[in-house]
Amino acid sequence: MRSKTYSPIAKSLHWLVFALVAVQLVLGWLMPGARRTTPPDVLNNWHMSIGVVILALIAVRFLWRLIANSPLPEPGPRWQIVTAEATHLLLYALVFVLVFSGWANAVAHNWTITLFWSVKLPAVLPAGAGWVRAIGELHSAIVWVLLGLVGLHVAAALGHHFILGDNVLRRMLPGRTADRS
Ligand code: HEM
Ligand code: HEM
Repeated sequence: MRSKTYSPIAKSLHWLVFALVAVQLVLGWLMPGARRTTPPDVLNNWHMSIGVVILALIAVRFLWRLIANSPLPEPGPRWQIVTAEATHLLLYALVFVLVFSGWANAVAHNWTITLFWSVKLPAVLPAGAGWVRAIGELHSAIVWVLLGLVGLHVAAALGHHFILGDNVLRRMLPGRTADRS
């Protein structure tokens, strides 16, 4: 039977991805720009490593959603339920696309992605291909698309909580699992 609230695993993954995306934004804006002629700096390496962790977490989160089902929507008008579901699916997709474009960006700059200075990951994409460079160049624009959607998502969560006074935000917050069925 589907529950009314998010499981501790779903909540933990949601807030962990949120925190790591915030760290990525700070790293992305602070780190030196990518140059084809220079190796990645320490901050670039942190950025790429954390990006790969986000990819793993969002994949687990999505699989978890398929296996465990997301909770039943809070009662409300149909347009709200459909918009919320569409936004959530788009958020998953955008995080994937963002990580993919970041990967392409690294490959286009001839950078090897070394996971936390230990495991070298394969380039996967052809370094010299024009389409890889084009996708890589979209990375910073995709960041803004994600930020716009997250802004909408946060406004909706806060609107539900403070204006409509319903359970939507509370059921994603830590600790409140009593109404699981
Ligand atoms: C959720 C994940 C990610 C976020 C939020 C993110 C965010 C950002 C931001 C804000 C920038 C700076 C853009 C600018 O200068 O305007 C950036 C640049 C960059 N990112 Fe990411 N990124 C993510 C994942 C990745 C991944 C997985 C990789 C590679 C494996 C990557 C590789 C790069 C590279 C190489 C640059 C430098 C671009 C340049 O200076 O031309 N990113 N990222
Ligand atoms: C990088 C930032 C974020 C991403 C990528 C993200 C992504 C998601 C996704 C994919 C879901 C759907 C979960 C599912 O059912 O499968 C979700 C649900 C939710 N998120 Fe976020 N989120 C982010 C930040 C936030 C923030 C900052 C807040 C609060 C202010 C928030 C509040 C919520 C709430 C309340 C739900 C449950 C909505 C419902 O039950 O209909 N999220 N989030």
